[in-house]
Amino acid sequence: MVRITTPTIRLNNGISIPQLGLGVWQTRDGAEVEAAVTAAIDAGYRLIDTAAYYGNETGVGNAIRASNVPREELFVTTKLWNADHGYENALKAFDASLEKLGLDYVDMYLIHWPVPARGLFVETWRAFEELYAQGRVKAIGVSNFQPHHLDELLEKATIQPVVDQVELHPYFPQTKLRDYGKLHDIAIESWSPIGGSGGALLKEPLLHEIGEKHDKSPAQIVIRWHLQNGLIVIPKSVHAERIQQNIDVFDFELDLADMAAINSLQTGVRVGPNPDTANFQ
Ligand SMILES: NC(=O)c1ccc[n+]([C@@H]2O[C@H](COP(=O)([O-])OP(=O)(O)OC[C@H]3O[C@@H](n4cnc5c(N)ncnc54)[C@H](OP(=O)(O)O)[C@@H]3O)[C@@H](O)[C@H]2O)c1
Repeated sequence: MVRITTPTIRLNNGISIPQLGLGVWQTRDGAEVEAAVTAAIDAGYRLIDTAAYYGNETGVGNAIRASNVPREELFVTTKLWNADHGYENALKAFDASLEKLGLDYVDMYLIHWPVPARGLFVETWRAFEELYAQGRVKAIGVSNFQPHHLDELLEKATIQPVVDQVELHPYFPQTKLRDYGKLHDIAIESWSPIGGSGGALLKEPLLHEIGEKHDKSPAQIVIRWHLQNGLIVIPKSVHAERIQQNIDVFDFELDLADMAAINSLQTGVRVGPNPDTANFQ
């Protein structure tokens, strides 16, 4: 296995995040997630993206502690689930995540969804600021926040989020949110970056065509599109050869015509829930 070094992005609080990482949604706790995280670290990934909701923080932590890469060279993200919004609940939920991970700190903690119907994300953010002040998280951010949720948060926050992790891929490129991120120095991280488990995006003939030109797979072409757009990208796979393939994207470049053609795939259709209406617990 060839170990590759990923570039990093400097967040607005001065810390660096690897621009490419492994997502572990729908990866079973125990042997499956441990094997995926181990394969990723061996291939050169230094960012692992989990969440309390995924139910696999224990396995992620086991693989991280078992790896021979020093803890400070790894970047671990986890997320607070919707049922745990509110100041005290968030502090408790963080303790539970840290215990499952078996780590002293997490690199980044995200509010998983804004759940506007509950109206608690600002109060939840106060707990995040507290965890950050205590040094138990190195960076705090949000996920699935639209510009109007960010407006409300920024107005009341003492510390601004470093990242907004959202559904983002060529079908749903989040152009407005990306402009908002640039304006406010909030890095944008793409979830379901290769279109999620449905697989429709990777069947696009255009991606196969561009892939043939560069001798790369459709997944590698899409991952490269994210990287060249300055996005943080966290493709998920449970297969070691795909995990390796998804990081093997630093030896070629898409040209302007490739990028424009991929942009034209935009449909404006999400594969996941709409953050304004999703109210799952
Ligand atoms: N914040 C949020 O609300 C949120 C929501 C969704 C996801 N996320 C995060 O984002 C990560 C990525 O999103 P995702 O898991 O939804 O979707 P994704 O990474 O876009 O796609 C994953 C799917 O693509 C397949 N795949 C991976 N590499 C491939 C390759 N090289 N060729 C062909 N197929 C390939 C995987 O199958 P195999 O595993 O079988 O290889 C899986 O079915 C998640 O794991 C999670 O960490 C966050």
